[in-house]
Amino acid sequence: MTVPAPSDKALVPFVSVENMMRLVHHIGIERVLTELTDVIEADFKRWELFDKTPRVASHSREGVIELMPTSDGEIYSFKYVNGHPKNMAEGLQTVTAFGLLADVSTGYPVLLTEMTLLTALRTAATSAMAARHLAPKTATTMAMIGNGAQAEFQALAMKAVLGITHVRLFDIDAKAAEKTQRNLEGSGLNVTACATSQSAIEGAQIITTCTADKQYATILTDNMVGAGVHINAIGGDCPGKTELHRDILSRADTFVEYPPQTRIEGEIQQMDPDYPVTELWQVVTGQVEGRKNDKQITLFDSVGFAIEDFSALRYVRERVRGTSYFQPVDLIADPDDPRDLFGMLQRAKD
Ligand SMILES: NC(=O)c1ccc[n+]([C@@H]2O[C@H](COP(=O)([O-])OP(=O)(O)OC[C@H]3O[C@@H](n4cnc5c(N)ncnc54)[C@H](O)[C@@H]3O)[C@@H](O)[C@H]2O)c1
Repeated sequence: MTVPAPSDKALVPFVSVENMMRLVHHIGIERVLTELTDVIEADFKRWELFDKTPRVASHSREGVIELMPTSDGEIYSFKYVNGHPKNMAEGLQTVTAFGLLADVSTGYPVLLTEMTLLTALRTAATSAMAARHLAPKTATTMAMIGNGAQAEFQALAMKAVLGITHVRLFDIDAKAAEKTQRNLEGSGLNVTACATSQSAIEGAQIITTCTADKQYATILTDNMVGAGVHINAIGGDCPGKTELHRDILSRADTFVEYPPQTRIEGEIQQMDPDYPVTELWQVVTGQVEGRKNDKQITLFDSVGFAIEDFSALRYVRERVRGTSYFQPVDLIADPDDPRDLFGMLQRAKD
């Protein structure tokens, strides 16, 4: 028996990994990072409108699986994402993700997409957005500690949005730094692989830590961090998983996405519950000053928040419209009579 083709109501645009790769090259990666930075910033300016909740995390000995939902009242989004530091040694990604946008008025999905690449892009764009408000205006050099899957995206976003010209790499695995250096060849960035984290941060005005370890780690100690730098701490994003010595937090002014989530997951989990933080959206809207002087140490304690994924999904939806970078998938049941779901089932009966 031939099953009739699904109607338009059944079809949801799906962006595969292959199509995401094609889309990024079609637009140009630095342009994608710049546009995403602006889209995320625009949504941070509407921060108060959004539903906000700490992400729903399911922890295991090996890692974490998380759901990250939000809505602005018109569009709803969620991302499924995992974090498994031990995966890399098994030939698997530490972080993989996919996500969905839905129309609040009908509850119908309007986009389903891969988000492993999109997460790397949106995390880098969020770093760049924070650095645009917090890093010294004269910054030319960044240190990149942890040279895994996220690293090149982070470096290119700082180049595209802030005009960073030099990147100094360090990873405990020299092969990771070699990979990053190779991937950044021809990007216009001047890239140096360093033998220690201490040497990587020499002369850097922006220090990004992006390591993966399912335990408290000390990637930076207080004596390594000079006055005036901006630290972008990406890898400490789970209970029991941090990268900075707490003494750095005592000296720094710390900026966060959503305090109820960051106090559980971020670097600040090491501090008292009343450790002062500034919400990044308040800096973006101009309600609170970001960098106040050239001696201040600013810290973006990044954990990744659902609104950034919402922005990224919204961006992809706009960018694939009218292109061939998606496939319609038959995701939603479409009975001829909405009450006759059982009748629809009979369409495929032999
Ligand atoms: N904040 C966010 O929004 C966000 C988003 C994505 C990923 N992350 C986190 O960022 C981290 C990196 O993600 P990834 O996908 O690049 O992981 P990855 O496993 O691909 O890379 C991690 C790298 O860190 C290196 N490393 C581990 N310990 C180190 C140390 N002590 N010093 C220097 N290098 C060290 C590893 O050798 C590896 O190359 C993870 O912890 C992940 O959970 C955060």
